[in-house]
Amino acid sequence: MALIIDTRTEPERALAIACETLGEGLPVAIPTETVYGLAADATNPDAISRIYEMKGRPRFNPLICHVADFAMAEAHVTFDPLSRQLAKAFWPGPLTLILPIKPESGVHPLASAGLDTLGIRMPEGFSQHVIARFGRPLAAPSANTSGKISPTSAAHVEADLGDKLRLILDAGAAEIGLESTIIKVDGDDVRLLRPGGLDVADIERLTGKTVLRPETAGAAIEAPGMLASHYAPGAAVRLNAANVKPGEAVIRFGGKSLPGEENAKAVLDLSPSANLREAAANLFAYMKQADASGAKTIAFGPIPNEGLGEAIIDRIERAAAPRE
Ligand code: TXA
Ligand code: MG
Repeated sequence: MALIIDTRTEPERALAIACETLGEGLPVAIPTETVYGLAADATNPDAISRIYEMKGRPRFNPLICHVADFAMAEAHVTFDPLSRQLAKAFWPGPLTLILPIKPESGVHPLASAGLDTLGIRMPEGFSQHVIARFGRPLAAPSANTSGKISPTSAAHVEADLGDKLRLILDAGAAEIGLESTIIKVDGDDVRLLRPGGLDVADIERLTGKTVLRPETAGAAIEAPGMLASHYAPGAAVRLNAANVKPGEAVIRFGGKSLPGEENAKAVLDLSPSANLREAAANLFAYMKQADASGAKTIAFGPIPNEGLGEAIIDRIERAAAPRE
């Protein structure tokens, strides 16, 4: 069983044991503001192999490398001016940039899946302290079995990977609850590879540019992790439900009840006050709760396709995609 240390009550012990475990080449589950990550030394091929093994993840899928500060980022990747502007504005935070790897970077090709670019971000919160103390970037996908819903609490991680892990750091519920927004700057173009916890509108306001969406940018091929079926709960998922069939679980938004709800196995509201930020933070936990209700299908009520709604709908569509 994994040791769970609460970073709010025992920060020093959490840092010491995390760094010792990472130094042995073992993955540690760390809290980030987006979701919990399964982190390992990005320069150690054995450590990275253990991430892929624990997740049961296809090897061609590159991992995001997490840094503590700009100096650490600059030791591994080259910034173009636009990417630098984005990093200065939004780091630490839910933004991953795809940037060329420097030849002298010690990040192992297993982490980048042999690509000449690296997905890099500076997370906020306790994980930033862990990386600073460890002194090297940490490669970290979400801390869940491949294809399952991402964890937003230490309890989620424990339920899924507790038997395989030595250490889980617990900092409470993830504040944002959705994975980072992934951006690649291509000359003058700013391209969205994955919608996520940073609102695209904030990027457009800062840069004065229209961010190119995956359909227009052909990015699905470039972010190999973007398999259609992902974030899959056990139950089937139905989008944009206008009503509820008996025995379904319902996840709705904005306090709007759906006809037939009274016969549902569970009724959850992502944000009764129609706040998309709150909805994002609740999404994965509510999907797990709806799944645990024993319903064969989860029916989602309509969610506005604006701001963080784009990333929320993206995750629900993936959960609804045909399974392999
Ligand atoms: O919020 C997050 O981003 C979380 C936390 C733990 O930081 N991490 C996360 O990692 O979601 P993961 O491994 O589940 O997703 C990584 C995504 C994949 O879709 C992968 O294909 C893409 O990033 N990616 C990584 N490196 C890339 C690269 N060099 N080029 C294109 N896409 C890349
Ligand atoms: Mg993931």
